[in-house]
Amino acid sequence: MASLAEEIIQFHGVEKTYDGHTKVVDSLDLCIERGSFLSLLGPSGSGKTTTLMMLAGFEGPTSGDIRMHGRSLLDVPPYRRGMGVVFQNYALFPHLSVAQNIAFPLQQRRVGKSDVAIQVRRALEMVNLPNIGARYPRQLSGGQQQRVALARALVFEPEVVLMDEPLGALDKQLREHMQIEIKRLHQRLGITIVYVTHDQGEALTMSSRVAVFHEGKIQQIAVPEDIYERPGTSFVANFIGENNRLDGVVDHGVDGDFVVLLGNGTRLTASADTPLAAGSKTTLSIRPERISINPGSSVRNVVPATVRELIYLGDHVRVRMSVCGNHDFFAKLPIGNVDSSLRPELEILVGWKAEHCRALDPMH
Ligand SMILES: Nc1ncnc2c1ncn2[C@@H]1O[C@H](COP(=O)(O)OP(=O)(O)O)[C@@H](O)[C@H]1O
Ligand SMILES: [Mg+2]
Repeated sequence: MASLAEEIIQFHGVEKTYDGHTKVVDSLDLCIERGSFLSLLGPSGSGKTTTLMMLAGFEGPTSGDIRMHGRSLLDVPPYRRGMGVVFQNYALFPHLSVAQNIAFPLQQRRVGKSDVAIQVRRALEMVNLPNIGARYPRQLSGGQQQRVALARALVFEPEVVLMDEPLGALDKQLREHMQIEIKRLHQRLGITIVYVTHDQGEALTMSSRVAVFHEGKIQQIAVPEDIYERPGTSFVANFIGENNRLDGVVDHGVDGDFVVLLGNGTRLTASADTPLAAGSKTTLSIRPERISINPGSSVRNVVPATVRELIYLGDHVRVRMSVCGNHDFFAKLPIGNVDSSLRPELEILVGWKAEHCRALDPMH
């Protein structure tokens, strides 16, 4: 039986430049495990699409190698790579019916006529669209077209499916519905999915692993919980979710944690994945939902704060405060936990645990 840890795709030192000097993908090493759902997440221009295009075979790397099952893919044309693709710029063929669109990858692979009919019907059932094979793309809603594109990518039972922002054009409700459908298909079919998105919520909810891209490089690759709770760089902490930042200098290590001295003389205890040298600059990152107001003694870091503003958001309240010289320091309190005495100008204590305070690369 195939184990989840089996690596089916590997990028080795892959670089790509279009203009001869800017590396839009830079020294990329990446392993993709069989049956996993890997998201490539990052801002626009960070190299996600280029990475996926190189995997699909529509672009070649400038240097480095991409392997599947240990064999280089560089000389293998796209249709021989056994990958289904759902790309934004690879829309349905408008002059072909739905059935003809879905049959296209099968015909490319020279599948016999009677098998084509059976597989097209099965693919349409898989995406919950039976009985629309005779229609044309223009007669379908956006969501239906997207499902047909998905059926076309799945029809030849590929081992790997590549998707580039497949839900980008859909409205929120339909997008969330399709996210669930794609996740279900992934679980049911046991395929490997590589999924490009710039939407952090989408990446966190759908993926088994997330690779965060920035300027052609992977900043961090980890399970969604680690990406959010244990960001490895300031870029990841800022790009995903909200965070409060405090600048300081590492003072000394203690029991695997680090004491950090802030500009105002406050000492805080923070966690980091790698040893930090005394004297090095760092930026601390603390998520707003990890801040407690008037914390008990179980919390390592306790500092004075001045409440500036309360912002009501229905299910929670955001409290803006001045903390250690940061006047936009936010706590996020569940609505049931908000003390009615909290008001602007009140002097309080706030606190957070060392494990929720990440010492990352300096922002300043
Ligand atoms: N065909 C191309 N020719 C020249 N430059 C390109 C081409 N495709 C992408 N780029 C450039 O490469 C960089 C990365 O783009 P892309 O991989 O599309 O990023 P993303 O998908 O993360 O938005 C961008 O600066 C983009 O302008
Ligand atoms: Mg893109």
